[in-house]
Order: sequence, then structure tokens, then C-alpha cells
Amino acid sequence: MDTQHNKIRLGVNIDHVATVRNARGGAVPDPMRAALLAEKAGADGITAHLREDRRHIVDADIDALMANLTVPLNFEMAATDEMQKIALRHKPHAVCLVPEKREERTTEGGLEVVREENKLARYIAPLRDAGCRVSIFIAADQKQIEAAHRIGAPVIELHTGAYCDAHAERRFDERDAELERLRDMCAFATSLGLEVHAGHGLTYDTVQPIAAFPDIVELNIGHFLIGEAVFDGLETVIGKMRKLMDDA
Ligand code: PXP
Repeated sequence: MDTQHNKIRLGVNIDHVATVRNARGGAVPDPMRAALLAEKAGADGITAHLREDRRHIVDADIDALMANLTVPLNFEMAATDEMQKIALRHKPHAVCLVPEKREERTTEGGLEVVREENKLARYIAPLRDAGCRVSIFIAADQKQIEAAHRIGAPVIELHTGAYCDAHAERRFDERDAELERLRDMCAFATSLGLEVHAGHGLTYDTVQPIAAFPDIVELNIGHFLIGEAVFDGLETVIGKMRKLMDDA
């Protein structure tokens, strides 16, 4: 097998290029341009979250990404009827279901799969039939992982936000406990046959312990990369993140 295939995939989330664009209105900076640069710099996929309120990525961005990307698009969305229609129209490579509350600043917790099991099973069926690889963004919680498996999702993405927050706030015991939970749940999910991704809040400082999990397949990283690109340029920061992941 090509060794390339054994590397952890890096999905670059370009939402916050759109955040900066939308702060002024108009067309720049263009998330599509960032996506093409990310591809060139070694991103294995592009992630974009079309929120209900269109606060960053808008429908025209998804149209452009679908038309122009050569790497897979991971389309993040809430499990609503509107988003399902959009996903079925575009049939992106991957659909990642995330919880979404209008008032939150970012995706604050994982999806509640246990309570919504039957509804979510019905929701993802047509997406899977359309050929989209469905992933479910969840906390590192065994019950949620089991429920994601039962509804037939092939992929889960583990929420690394609590681990990253604990690191940033120097609560190191909590950080280490979160890391251990993530590692254990990554192994557990893999043992069920699920493909495991992870993301949210990852930085140069927090990526390596996650990238060192034996079974992790993909990391999705956005806010830090886009912020750091202001200082170092997008290609350089993606290259640095890629190297940290490979070295781990
Ligand atoms: N993965 C998922 C499912 C997300 O919702 C987000 C944030 O949109 C990310 C990864 C990327 O998080 P960040 O922008 O903090 O790197």
C-alpha cells in the first residue's frame, strides 16, 4: 500500500475565511481561494459548515466548492430538513452532522444521538443512499458512540473542544483526563468498526497527542489555522500542522 494512505488525513475548515469576508460584506477574502491554497499545501479535504443563519459559509460557497475542489468536501450541517435537501442536491463526499444552536459562538457540544436515535437513523438513510459518507460529531462518550453505531453511521468525529480548552486554561489534570477519554473512546469506536475522526479547537500545541492515537483517521482543523495564517500565510501553517501530525 502507498504509505501516503497510512497518514492521518487533514481536513482544513475554511469557515472563518468566510467570517472575515462577511464582517465587511462583499467578496473578499474568498473561501474558495483559501480552499484551493489549502489543497496545494497538502490538505486532504476541505471542511465547511453551512449554518442555519449563514453567519460564515453561504450557499454560493458550497456551490463553488462543489464545482472547483479536487479533494473531497466534508459538508458540516445540522440535522434539519433544509440541510438534508441541500446535501442531497450536492451529494458531497462527506456529510458531518453537528448540533447547532443559533446563539452559540461555535459548535459547543457533540450531537445527542442516544435520545434522537430513531430520528437520526431515518435522517441519515437517504444521505447514505446518495453515497455521502455520514459522520456524527459526538462527545467521547461510550453511549453516544454505541448509538452512532446502531443508527448505521460509518464514521464518528470526536469533539476535542474540552481537551483543547483545558489545555489553553492550564487545567492540565483535566486536559490529561480528557485526552485519556478521547484515546479510549477512539479505540472503542474502532473496535465497533467505526472510522474515527476528531476536531475542534486543535492547535500546534494540542494536535500531536491526538494524532498519536493508533486508530485516528482524520483531523478537521479550522479556526487556529486561519488565525495563524494572518501571521505566517496559509500554506506555511498548513505545512507546519501537517508535519506535526506526521511526526506524532
Ligand atoms: N469539526 C467539527 C465537527 C466542527 O464543527 C468544527 C468547527 O466548525 C471543527 C472540526 C473545526 O474546529 P476549529 O475551527 O475549532 O478548528
